[in-house]
Amino acid sequence: MKFTAPKGTRDLLPPETTAWQYAEQVFCEVCHRFGYQEIRLPTFEQTALFQRGVGETTDVVQKEMYTFDDKGGRSMTLRPEGTAGVVRSYIENGMASWPSPVRLFYMITAFRYENVQKGRYREFHQFGCEAIGAEGPAIDAELISLLDLYFKTMGLKETSLRINSIGCPQCREQYHRVLKAWLKPHLTKLCANCQERFERNPLRIIDCKEENCARLTADAPAQMDYLCQTCGDHFNGLQHQLRLLDLPFVIDRRIVRGLDYYTRTVFEFVSGHVGTQGTICGGGRYDGLIAAVGGSATPGIGFALGVERLFMELQAQEVQMPLPQPARLFIAVAGNHADEAARLCSRLRRSGIYADVDTMGRSLKAQMKYAGKSGAAAVLVLGDDEVNSGTGRLRDLASGQEIEVALDQLKNLLQPRTV
Ligand code: HAM
Repeated sequence: MKFTAPKGTRDLLPPETTAWQYAEQVFCEVCHRFGYQEIRLPTFEQTALFQRGVGETTDVVQKEMYTFDDKGGRSMTLRPEGTAGVVRSYIENGMASWPSPVRLFYMITAFRYENVQKGRYREFHQFGCEAIGAEGPAIDAELISLLDLYFKTMGLKETSLRINSIGCPQCREQYHRVLKAWLKPHLTKLCANCQERFERNPLRIIDCKEENCARLTADAPAQMDYLCQTCGDHFNGLQHQLRLLDLPFVIDRRIVRGLDYYTRTVFEFVSGHVGTQGTICGGGRYDGLIAAVGGSATPGIGFALGVERLFMELQAQEVQMPLPQPARLFIAVAGNHADEAARLCSRLRRSGIYADVDTMGRSLKAQMKYAGKSGAAAVLVLGDDEVNSGTGRLRDLASGQEIEVALDQLKNLLQPRTV
């Protein structure tokens, strides 16, 4: 039997992993600069958390969750996203008593049973931030500004920010009435899911991925035209803040986002390069979510960035990342000096040097061939002469140049690793 990676998953191999580590380091650094701290959460949660948080009428909950009963008969689900878990943890760990807003970031894998295509996987990675406790639009702009700095630091040149407001439960009620009246004549032509959503959550119909539904609802009324005074002021406030921070944006009345917890601000960063899955990053406000999953009413906002899509974009824009490649020394063993070579290599590694030594008892010729292929920067052959004299010849593999060195001075000649 031939085993393969499950459909919709992907092995991440070196040297690609080096680029991912770089993307993670830059994300951590930018988040820390804005006062966000890392949170690490379980990969699976109780199914009911996502049903209640993400929403029963969403595609994610209806069709895409990896749900299973554990051996104790409890229904569990591999997280399809990070926000519900963060909010669960916020409530469970009493973070309401922390200085507000509570600013958290995460780097996670997420799981959705989706139709696999370019930029759409069943296991994928997200970098995300959540800011809990602040109601005004300043924090919305802060998160967008963080993303903008991250994209720029990573070297992306073109990213387009789209924003919208989908109001609060009060103004949405009026909008739902208008939307339902508009949708009614088209109802029988919509997909079965949308027909079901019509009563329970008509806003979801605007977000349906079925081609026919998307075409039929292209001219449907937008929530934007039915915002209450407070939501309208909030959205104007956000635009003011974005201009203040020199963050260009486009208002896109069609953005409703695919998850139910959103209120007021919603936003996406899109690109033409990520195929049909043009959204690299999406986020928004969820002022009702914390109360919906058992906490006291607290506003929140966040985003998640799809890491696979970020890399597609970096590649499409031909971004060169400054990936650190520390020089590595290979110690080749001549004669029966494997023990001395192992000891020298270990000493160098302990003092911070990238070093490698033969572990397979290969001939000197085979070791030199391996050193060349392995990407080592320099080689030192350790034989009788070197062991007796305590000196050796350090050979730069690129230039072929050799220098005489005292073995106990090697660590000063090689660049120690900076962590
Ligand atoms: P989302 O829009 O469902 O939002 O996902 C965020 C990002 O994850 C997308 O823009 C996309 O880049 C990536 N993504 C989603 N599904 C896939 C997939 N199947 N394959 C590859 N990439 C994918 C959320 O998840 C919210 N939790 C964001 C948020 C945080 N809102 C507030 N706080």
